[in-house]
Amino acid sequence: MSLVHDFDEVVNRRGTDSKKYSVYPEDVIPMWIADSDFKAPQPVVDALVARMQQGVYGYTPISERLKKAGAGWQKKRFGWDVNPEWVEFVPGVITGLICAVRALSQPGDNIVIQSPCYPPFSDLSDHNGRHLLRNKLVLTGDHYEIDFEDFEEKCKDPRTKLFILCNPQNPTGHVFTKEELTKLGNICMKYHVIVLADEIHQDLVSSGHKHIPFASICEEFEQNSVSFMNPSKTFNVPGFRTAAFIAANPVLKNAVHDIVVNNKQIGENICGTIAFCTAYEACDYYADQLAVYIEKNRALVEETLKDVKGIKAIHADGTYFVWLDCRGLNMSQDELNKFFVETVKLGFNSGKTFGPDGDGFLRMNIACPKSTVEQALDRIVKALA
Ligand SMILES: Cc1ncc(COP(=O)(O)O)c(C=O)c1O
Repeated sequence: MSLVHDFDEVVNRRGTDSKKYSVYPEDVIPMWIADSDFKAPQPVVDALVARMQQGVYGYTPISERLKKAGAGWQKKRFGWDVNPEWVEFVPGVITGLICAVRALSQPGDNIVIQSPCYPPFSDLSDHNGRHLLRNKLVLTGDHYEIDFEDFEEKCKDPRTKLFILCNPQNPTGHVFTKEELTKLGNICMKYHVIVLADEIHQDLVSSGHKHIPFASICEEFEQNSVSFMNPSKTFNVPGFRTAAFIAANPVLKNAVHDIVVNNKQIGENICGTIAFCTAYEACDYYADQLAVYIEKNRALVEETLKDVKGIKAIHADGTYFVWLDCRGLNMSQDELNKFFVETVKLGFNSGKTFGPDGDGFLRMNIACPKSTVEQALDRIVKALA
């Protein structure tokens, strides 16, 4: 029997300790933080309920099932042959990246990222005494391109030890092609820069495009990288704090894993492991249907905003964000944020939090029922008419 998920269902999340719904007043539609408004897949809910009803919630051992489930997803969805032994639990991708940064670089070393970028990348670099180098993505027409020359300059610096790749890219939604990844990977090999590949948005790619795990491109890249995955975005289970990193190179793997293990409070939790495994073992149908649903929401946003002066949706092929270029509204970022919350009544992420290259932009989360996207667009059209 093939399962169908109802992504049109509107779920009332107020009063459920939701971070997304706790920041803005009730008359503002929250479309900011990266959790979706969709229910998790029914098999995940059923597996959790069944386990919870047993009533005893003791410590758990390292889950071999989690390693197999993570490796299995990479193989069946992206054709990457991952040995389950390369997979290790981490409570979140950001926690994993922090452990990797501490394991594979020293205070004072450089970390290259591509900008605009997801704010925790710069935070984790700053908070650990590393020096962040921003390889600026170049807005060309309605999409972003990579400045490879600048990337190479940054990798050439002998203090550069790590590159944090975000693919698909948050916030621009850029899905890297094999050619782009190969070029980036070769530059990193040339200058002995290790790649940390945050692939948390890997399932959220539009039709006609393909997510390529960086490490799957060739053995050299596989040996020179640590990859990160989490079912949280796709299956809306971020509250369970259960992710994984994958490292084929035992030196890199053991170094990162040592940091995870040495922080004794970082341990698996029963619910997270159940959600992770059930989603990756049994919920392909949900990931497939979600990608189609998001693509339709994105098309609706792009089509509607075409006729709105001063605001442009940057075209994206991945993630569930729309990166809105609002520079045509001639407002400072503070004015823009205030205008959207107080007048338009929409809670987006401020572009400036993604670094200086995000100034004048807003990030809109479209992982919600179509009716919510329609309401949001209606508010924009009316406010800017
Ligand atoms: C690119 C990226 N990496 C990591 C995260 C957070 O992941 P986690 O909750 O597993 O730390 C997010 C969430 O928005 C994200 O967009």
